[in-house]
Amino acid sequence: MGSGSSAPKAAPPPPATEEKSPEAEQPQTDPRLPYSNFREVFTLKNFWKTIRRNEKDCGKAMFARYLKQQPDNKAMYAKLKNVDVSTLDAACSDTGFETIAANYLKVFDDVVQAVEEKPGDVQAACDRLTAVGKMHRTKVSGMDSSAFQQMEEPFLFMVGDVLQDRFNEKAETLFRKFFQFCLKYLLEGFNK
Ligand code: HEM
Repeated sequence: MGSGSSAPKAAPPPPATEEKSPEAEQPQTDPRLPYSNFREVFTLKNFWKTIRRNEKDCGKAMFARYLKQQPDNKAMYAKLKNVDVSTLDAACSDTGFETIAANYLKVFDDVVQAVEEKPGDVQAACDRLTAVGKMHRTKVSGMDSSAFQQMEEPFLFMVGDVLQDRFNEKAETLFRKFFQFCLKYLLEGFNK
């Protein structure tokens, strides 16, 4: 058995000031994001997996809720000519309804994906949103920019519906911030 004197000396621990906190190991988030802490991006990404797995139903739930709340907007959508809003629900299988519902959800999905892939530089997410905003300006005659806000409640309703008891106050704040981020760049594109 070796004595204490002949045993190799362990390297001294690094000075406390050099120790990295778990936060310091985490990627930086783009200041344009409403999350200063990467942990929030990570949580959002995890919650979004549930939405992705139920993509079609989620899109339909959100879009049906929006149309029920804004029945007058229906007339703006050529693809919804066969849809009766008074009897509409998320189970509607009209092709036009399903197509638009999927395309609306895809905007949010693309944004989450872009943020997930590059939390430190969300330019791709901003570009996607400004393009959608701009498209409304050119294609949706008579639309007022304030109308984009109408999607917040249906968006949160859909998230709450699919997350069930996981949709606590923290999750709600996370998704509300996410929607506000989307809204900011949709409006930027619309108003450009
Ligand atoms: C967060 C909010 C919104 C998002 C992400 C969004 C996204 C989109 C997308 C992806 C499309 C193409 C869908 C398709 O034709 O298959 C679209 C089309 C359209 N959007 Fe929105 N939209 C939003 C809010 C609104 C609001 C509030 C209105 C009405 C006041 C509106 C009116 C329209 C209309 C009329 C079209 C069909 C345009 C056409 O092809 O002629 N959108 N939107």
